[in-house]
Amino acid sequence: MIPEISARRSIRQYTGEPVSREEILALLEAGNRAPSAKNRQPWRFLVLTGKAKAEAVEAMRQGIARERQGDALLPGSTRHLAGAEYTARIMEQAPVVIFVANPYGTPPCQPLDPEERVYELANLQSIGACIENICLEAAARGLGTLWVCDLFFAYEELSRLAGMEGELAAAIVVGHPAETPSPRPRRKIEDIVEWREN
Ligand SMILES: Cc1cc2nc3c(=O)[nH]c(=O)nc-3n(C[C@H](O)[C@H](O)[C@H](O)COP(=O)(O)O)c2cc1C
Repeated sequence: MIPEISARRSIRQYTGEPVSREEILALLEAGNRAPSAKNRQPWRFLVLTGKAKAEAVEAMRQGIARERQGDALLPGSTRHLAGAEYTARIMEQAPVVIFVANPYGTPPCQPLDPEERVYELANLQSIGACIENICLEAAARGLGTLWVCDLFFAYEELSRLAGMEGELAAAIVVGHPAETPSPRPRRKIEDIVEWREN
């Protein structure tokens, strides 16, 4: 296994040290090399630092409060709101948050026909490859990352703030790690694989 795969962890504590624009560009370059369905490269980035990042965290908190107050986009997921508040605190502490949008995507509140859904699935897989490339490149450089989907609890607020075409797909927190977490558990391969022959 390449060393970055085993070295990477989700980092939830960061030092205050900034990340240089050159390093952020190197991460985005790694993301941009990811494979994608039909080479559509369905990723666009918004890099937030400083006051712009603080405004995004505020918008996320407003969305979480709206979800709590009953006007929820995800009414069956209220048990995850405390986790989303924790994620907002991590975004607040870290120096950089990168939003990743799918310019061909449809926001979660809009229906999709089967064909659109297949495109959406392929584009989101491509975005997953892009984000993993970014996380592995960061690990190779001694930077920490956290892949964030809790922004779906503030989907409208953050989409409005980001103003990106299509749908917001995820965020990536980036910074210098202030913790060295142990590996999170994984299922054993024999429990998740089936081999078929003949
Ligand atoms: C698609 C995706 C979304 C995630 N969203 C969040 C999140 O919003 N907040 C958070 O703290 N961690 C989030 N994580 C991190 C996972 O909790 C973490 O990857 C998992 O527990 C395994 O730990 P590891 O990354 O250290 O191996 C996300 C990970 C992925 C792949």
